[in-house]
Amino acid sequence: MRLAVIGCGYVGLVTGCCLAETGHDVVATDNDPNRIATLKAGRLPIHEPGLDVVMQRASAASRLRFTGDCADAVRNADAIFICVGTPPLESGEADLSAIDNVAKQIAAASSSSKLVIEKSTVPARTGDQLRRALNVYGRSTGVTFRVASNPEFLREGTGVGDFFHPDRIVVGVEDEESERLLREIYKPILEGDFCCPVHQPGCPEGRVTSFLVTTIASAELIKHASNSFLGLKISYANVLADLCEKLGANVDEVTQAVGLDPRIGRQFLSAGLGFGGFCLPKDIQAFIHLAEREGVDFSMLKEVEKINKRRIDQLMEKVREALWVVKDKKIGVLGLAFKPDTDDIRFAPAIDVVRRLQSERAVIRASDPVAIERARTVLPGMTFIQDPYEVARGADALLLLTEWKEYRELDWRLIYSEMARPLVFDARNMLSPKDMQSIGFEYHSFGRPDVSAAMPVLVG
Ligand code: UGA
Repeated sequence: MRLAVIGCGYVGLVTGCCLAETGHDVVATDNDPNRIATLKAGRLPIHEPGLDVVMQRASAASRLRFTGDCADAVRNADAIFICVGTPPLESGEADLSAIDNVAKQIAAASSSSKLVIEKSTVPARTGDQLRRALNVYGRSTGVTFRVASNPEFLREGTGVGDFFHPDRIVVGVEDEESERLLREIYKPILEGDFCCPVHQPGCPEGRVTSFLVTTIASAELIKHASNSFLGLKISYANVLADLCEKLGANVDEVTQAVGLDPRIGRQFLSAGLGFGGFCLPKDIQAFIHLAEREGVDFSMLKEVEKINKRRIDQLMEKVREALWVVKDKKIGVLGLAFKPDTDDIRFAPAIDVVRRLQSERAVIRASDPVAIERARTVLPGMTFIQDPYEVARGADALLLLTEWKEYRELDWRLIYSEMARPLVFDARNMLSPKDMQSIGFEYHSFGRPDVSAAMPVLVG
């Protein structure tokens, strides 16, 4: 099929490149000329494992093209994916002005019937507004616009694998023709008819993708409901960690056992510095607003947000307690991205921690495997060093703020010998307290207080 993707941010790029890989003809557009120039030059403006391979292959097969002209992308498309940003307004509500703007452009450029698909995360009922806008702006053309919602569940860092092997594909539609078109778009994914760059030589077998057809309002709600629940799970684990600290229990043991109940599940129960990124925090805020607007009390989610924000204060308290005086202390920071395998620093807890340390006038040196360039733009004047050993050298404390695999594998004995004071705050609970203590570190994490006494119970 001929597809247009509007918005070449994370979601648009993964969607456009992967759909082209599955055999569709994709034209992707963005209103940022620099971004389009980068893409036309064959470079990706984001760090996403495997996406470069998919993009190169689809471009070489002439199935993927980038253009700065939205009308050019829309004109010949049968279906259009709207993947523009919906950032939070001051109030926490989603800013839908980019969607409104895109609706005008689609209406103006269309001379044949189109299926317009919301891929951006939007509050429920946006589909109604989108349909109205398309029909009002396109009233003189006589073109039919169908509207559908197709939320994405991609996780940054594993987005390519997630796109090719989804747990579920949700399509919110209002007629059979829209459903038929969406089934056709996703047929290669459902039938495994593509070349997956993340699993070589072959993809894991036995994964079943559910194709769920819902109303548009349900599809819109499913996205916010999913992300809010993930945030809720994380905050739950974080409060458990606080309780474990008070009671001398170990949160790893508790969440491991709790998560073995299939009704609960082990994922997203890792305690630590809390969640960040451009999805969970903003989607929870938008969901709270949506519920308020509809007169539904969802204050449970306000608590989730509150708990999450408090994680930074709690880490700072630990740092202050151990260091006594923070001012002029040399502090090494490992990890700036909001999670591993991405250079995304938007709403990254690590950036908040660095700002707090700066305000207390610590002398900071920070590292990250891929996010330094982006971090430079929001932390001007700070010292960034790529080599983590160099960051640790002479430091009074080392803070682990993103759970990069690389940090787990560091030579911690060497780091011990290089630090001025062997003090480590593992804000992501990624290292073994026992191992770190046996090296000689003064080691702090979340919810694992008396580490020498705690022996892990590993079952099955
Ligand atoms: C999230 C969802 O997981 C995706 O399904 C969704 O498609 C996406 O938002 C989106 O709306 O576009 P993402 O923002 O890439 O994906 O990040 P997550 O993997 O969900 O992690 C979010 C944050 O939670 C990270 O800061 C991570 O460090 C933190 N986290 C995660 C924890 O603190 N504990 C955990 O147990 C898991």
